Amino acid sequence: MNIALIGSGGREHALCKKINESKLVKKIICIPGNAGTSQLATNIDADILNFDKILKLIKIHKINLVVIGPEEPLVKGIVDFLKKNDVKVFGPNKYASKLEGSKAFMKMICAKNNIPTAKFKICSKIKQVSSFLNSCQVPLVVKADGLAAGKGVAICKTKKEVIKISSEIFKGKFKSSRKVVLEEFLDGEEASYFVIVDKNNFKFFGTAQDHKRVYENDQGPNTGGMGAYSPAPLITKSLEKKIISKIIKPTLKALKKKKNPYTGFLYAGLMIKHNEPYLIEYNIRMGDPECQVIIPRLKTDIVKIFNNVTSNKLINTKIKWKNKKCMTIVLCAKGYPGKYKKNLKIKNIKKINLSKNDFIYHAGTKLLDDMLLSNGGRVLNITSIGFNFLKIRNKILSFIKKLNWKDGFCRKDIGWKVIKK
Ligand code: AMP
Ligand code: GLY
Repeated sequence: MNIALIGSGGREHALCKKINESKLVKKIICIPGNAGTSQLATNIDADILNFDKILKLIKIHKINLVVIGPEEPLVKGIVDFLKKNDVKVFGPNKYASKLEGSKAFMKMICAKNNIPTAKFKICSKIKQVSSFLNSCQVPLVVKADGLAAGKGVAICKTKKEVIKISSEIFKGKFKSSRKVVLEEFLDGEEASYFVIVDKNNFKFFGTAQDHKRVYENDQGPNTGGMGAYSPAPLITKSLEKKIISKIIKPTLKALKKKKNPYTGFLYAGLMIKHNEPYLIEYNIRMGDPECQVIIPRLKTDIVKIFNNVTSNKLINTKIKWKNKKCMTIVLCAKGYPGKYKKNLKIKNIKKINLSKNDFIYHAGTKLLDDMLLSNGGRVLNITSIGFNFLKIRNKILSFIKKLNWKDGFCRKDIGWKVIKK
């Protein structure tokens, strides 16, 4: 089979490597890919929102299956477009993608189906915000309705701040959002739960915990994710039962009822409070960097899984996992998530001796001749699997030390919740 993979992050490098391990695969193209995927696949530089161009590439390269990594093309309807053109594609359609593309849509699904989530109010005018404020307490979470590249959420400690942030959103701070979702602040521990879904069934696809804040001890602004580990010990068997019965099943049932059954990866971002799960957000794709710690633990051929999903035979697929732990630390360009430079040389990558349990997944990287250059804020994901989170982290940190990339930084405390001092 020939496979096209859309995206250019660490998530896509991890997927690309796993796809490349499948005996079913002849050729992979990555659109646009990064320096890491270029070692396994043919990178083609094209705009991932130019669906006509992508279709042309799919025809030229005789692609049998398209796998979509990031949310934006999904929310904009790439799956509907490709299916209409008889292309087999893995991922949710435009309607189902509103679970991530519109926080108001996700919240309405929760409200109508009794899915546990923070109490909320959807506002489209500042007047609605002010009158809601009269009846509630701070802290309050203010969210832009549409996609905002992880920047659309603010936890406000004062009512004044709520008004300020809401006004900015109404004034068009995020193009995709004309509505604001105000939410009760939930105090608990976050964890991510993944499933893979076809029209008829779903299967477990791992758990993970991400680290969203840029600095150690969870300080500083939010990022796309500074590191992750899998599995998340917080998600016990009894909690998992609740996640499935109270959150996953009612959501999938609701979309089926709307005649738009969900298919693809579904990522539930959860807050766990008093051993009860609350849905914070849905993502309609694998997480990044969560994917980089889940995929190395997967034993089953991922292409076989994708094929069974696209033909709605997931029920026949046994998905097997390694009984090992995995962690990744994200190496970022200095300045991220604010301003940072690109085209910074990363000289020592070949000096690192990786065993079969270690992986460097590229994110924002590119090659110029033979020199590896940075090409984004999150640059490399140093990843390792083993049996002990502390040992895994120490190994990753020793690789980062060896890399000695002067223009980069990372969090050295990834996994602090599961590594007892
Ligand atoms: P989201 O983009 O919805 O995942 O929000 C980004 C981050 O904001 C989450 O990972 C949480 O850390 C935090 N957050 C979002 N909603 C809430 C909430 N209702 N209560 C507490 N924290 C929240
Ligand atoms: N790491 C968070 C996300 O992928 O949305």
